[in-house]
Amino acid sequence: MPESLWYKNAVFYEVYVRAFFDSDGDGNGDLNGLTQKLDYLQSLGVDCLWLLPIYPSPLKDDGYDISDYTGIHPDYGTLADFKNLLEAAHARHIRLIMDLVLNHSSDQHPWFQAARSDRNSPFRDYYVWSDSDKKYDQARIIFVDTEKSNWTWDEAAGQYFWHRFYSSQPDLNFDNPAVRAEFLRIMRFWLDLGVDGFRVDAVPYLFEREDTNCENLPETHAFLKEIRRYVDKNYPGRILLCEANQWPEDVRTYLGDGDEFQLAFHFPLMPRIFMGLRRADSVPIEWALTHTPSIPENCQWCTFLRNHDELTLEMVTEEERQWMWEQYAPEARMRLNLGIRRRLAPLLDNDPRKIGLAFSLLFTLPGSPIIYYGDEIGMGDDLQLPDRNGVRTPLQWDAGLNAGFSSARSIYSPVIGVAPYDPERVNVETSRSTNGSLWSRIQAMIAIRKSHPALCCGDLAWLDCGLPAVAAYLRRGSREHMLMVHNLSAVPQMIDCVLPEDFHGKIVDLLTSQAMGKTQGRLLLSIQPYEYRWLSIA
Ligand code: BGC
Repeated sequence: MPESLWYKNAVFYEVYVRAFFDSDGDGNGDLNGLTQKLDYLQSLGVDCLWLLPIYPSPLKDDGYDISDYTGIHPDYGTLADFKNLLEAAHARHIRLIMDLVLNHSSDQHPWFQAARSDRNSPFRDYYVWSDSDKKYDQARIIFVDTEKSNWTWDEAAGQYFWHRFYSSQPDLNFDNPAVRAEFLRIMRFWLDLGVDGFRVDAVPYLFEREDTNCENLPETHAFLKEIRRYVDKNYPGRILLCEANQWPEDVRTYLGDGDEFQLAFHFPLMPRIFMGLRRADSVPIEWALTHTPSIPENCQWCTFLRNHDELTLEMVTEEERQWMWEQYAPEARMRLNLGIRRRLAPLLDNDPRKIGLAFSLLFTLPGSPIIYYGDEIGMGDDLQLPDRNGVRTPLQWDAGLNAGFSSARSIYSPVIGVAPYDPERVNVETSRSTNGSLWSRIQAMIAIRKSHPALCCGDLAWLDCGLPAVAAYLRRGSREHMLMVHNLSAVPQMIDCVLPEDFHGKIVDLLTSQAMGKTQGRLLLSIQPYEYRWLSIA
């Protein structure tokens, strides 16, 4: 595969810098802390870091409310620290992408301050104003637990302003060419420093049009294509990753003809992995993939299990949502907006078999996988913290003070203190040095994935074994075929099924390196509860 398509087979790692490692003892993780821990990420097999917003911000939405797009939040360090991080990451062949928040700024941004205080300011038209709060009433509210309307009255401005997220995040007006030009300038700033691209936040909502739901509008696509042309022309090989929490056919439109985003998160697949596991039924997972449209050759899905937000249930039916809430968020405090504010390990009962299985699906289904920091050691969450903060606690490095995260007396967030997720039991040091630990299994899966290109880019076909609890699929590569088998249930399964003709040959179990004889045209396998097998057939 040409180097320019590196993202098609990359393992991404999502970093919340504040939580990662505190290098200067002020209680906040910082850029230098991340730089110091790059060896850790390299040893896991990470190819690309995605940094949550690190810009100056009043932190009303943890940095997704930006008050200066080309600066660094003082808690995180300086621009010089950032350059140093980038250089150190590149020296280890680790790429780095940043969050680019187009849709809105902070209300503390000088643009908004100028806009609200003077109707004649050139910045007034940077935002979306109205004398009435009835415009665009078909647009849904996203943060339903907090916001009652997408309009908020601004006393200083004497008008309502439009916002799709918190009212501290006024939407920018993309109909204004000056706003569009600002973002090309902002992108240029970071791309000139050498960043490898952007995870572009909240892309469906850039434009507003009456009588629509104000999502996925043609104008939005046109602007995104313009951004892509700009990146391709001036910075070939850099990537744009799309955050559009939408149904497959709508997300697909963000890839265009290979001329919009290179990558898009696969939102519909994620909840169905959890559904499949809890129901011991492969149908939801298969459904998500069979309803995934094909994508251009130069594009790839980004698959994930969890991230810094609530586990979103926007891409399931109402009935499925209620079921997911009952199963995975039985207490009201576990729910947030249309989702579940819990981490991977607690969701999966802290059962190493289920967590390993979920990662196995992540690493063997089509797409470039993203690991959310801390999930590689099975970190827990803190439901006492508000909003999404419970899944943003300090990374647990060891069993020492502040879990080895910081030497400060007081840190930005409590470390998870309660068994079984406390640092005595869950930490990087122990997980890394223990054979068979979650961390070691993930590291091994990543290494195997990298040496078997069929797992990245091979075709996917489901193998019908007549066993609903078994998710078995074939990945056909140019030189090698792979057969992935997952037992989603708590009982052993006996598999006996016919294999396609081109799947005849010697079987090797890649996770144990054991030769298993020849297929003879059939797969005969007994598989333990929540076990997964990666078989190469050649
Ligand atoms: C981010 C959230 C953020 C929101 C508003 C999202 O999609 O992932 O964390 O609150 O955008 O910027």
